[in-house]
Amino acid sequence: MKKVAVLISGRGSNLGSLIAAQEGSYKIILVISNNADAAGLERAAAAGIATLIVPHAGKTRDSFDGELDAALRAAGAEIVVLAGFMRILSDGFVRGWEGKLVNIHPSLLPAYKGIKVHERVIEARETLSGASVHFVVPELDAGPVIAQARVPVHPSDTPDALAARVLGVEHQLYPEALTLLAKGKVRLEKGLAVFTDTP
Ligand code: GAR
Repeated sequence: MKKVAVLISGRGSNLGSLIAAQEGSYKIILVISNNADAAGLERAAAAGIATLIVPHAGKTRDSFDGELDAALRAAGAEIVVLAGFMRILSDGFVRGWEGKLVNIHPSLLPAYKGIKVHERVIEARETLSGASVHFVVPELDAGPVIAQARVPVHPSDTPDALAARVLGVEHQLYPEALTLLAKGKVRLEKGLAVFTDTP
């Protein structure tokens, strides 16, 4: 069973879906938030998972990331999962966790990297959107995709309505993708997501 740490900044609904699906191939041993008010911290505590607040204010990126790294190593984390973690991580941190660091992003990457995804998808009159789980590389939202799920975009959608539809598929997708990684069925090799033993 792989030891997983989850980094959050807010609500933590993806964390909730990862907690619900654990104990098969992975176990969440630590949840870290940069935001003391993150509702996800309560979800973790209610599930009996250790939590840690690492505030970012007043710190350089390197010193913040150094604190994160030290806490993750001390806890024995083997995989680090970003779930609504709204801080950009330094190249050094990302390289240190290469192949073991994953993120979920609410678009069909490589389309719509960055923020305000749903606003931009609606503005562009897309008919399809979705969510992507990817390995994290130094360039923002650019890492190799492990798994994607699609949802329709309706002409009447507001950004909130679309966000809720995408979130619904995120909650299925993230535990599935993390299970693949924890079981060693996908790995990062020479900048590509390489799959083994999948149907
Ligand atoms: C999710 O929609 C996730 O895809 C998004 O933040 C939300 C977090 O929700 N992440 C990003 O936009 C990362 N660039 P949650 O806190 O309820 O899991």
